[in-house]
Amino acid sequence: MTVRTVLTWPDRRLLQSAEPVEAVDDPIKTLVADMFETMYDQSGCGLAATQLGIPLQVVVLDCGTDAEPEPLALINARIVERDGEVVWNEGCLSLPGITADVERAQTVVVEALDAEGREIRVRAGGLAAVCIQHELDHLDGRLYVDRLGKLERLAALSDYDKARAAAAEASRPAREAAPEGGR
Ligand code: NI
Repeated sequence: MTVRTVLTWPDRRLLQSAEPVEAVDDPIKTLVADMFETMYDQSGCGLAATQLGIPLQVVVLDCGTDAEPEPLALINARIVERDGEVVWNEGCLSLPGITADVERAQTVVVEALDAEGREIRVRAGGLAAVCIQHELDHLDGRLYVDRLGKLERLAALSDYDKARAAAAEASRPAREAAPEGGR
């Protein structure tokens, strides 16, 4: 298993729409394993293949705990039922440093293939429901900030730019010390 690089905004590959997976073969199983490895490495609770620059309909999530993980891979997933409304403070590995409140369906039912290619139907609520909707949005080239109002979206992306600039500044090598007897 390999930890892969997660693309961050404004990488345009995040705007790609993902294609269905034709067969859950060995390369897809390797991709799923790498996606879990990458998600856990970054302490995320979900990851979409488009975040790795791979436009295929594959997402992984784990909304369990360290003691009781609940890994779930969803391939060619479709939400077939939505119920209720919930506002959740979301973050994203592709937009590090910011979060925002997003309105989502409270519960969803999703039909998909699992990592072995078996048909599954999952009913999810709470964090898992939010996570599924967030990750499936990625497969349509949509980030959670695109669910915000126009001004909120601009404010969130402005905060993101500031967080990125601060992170870049912090990781810059320290300037060379002034020579002895210098200013
Ligand atoms: Ni995300």
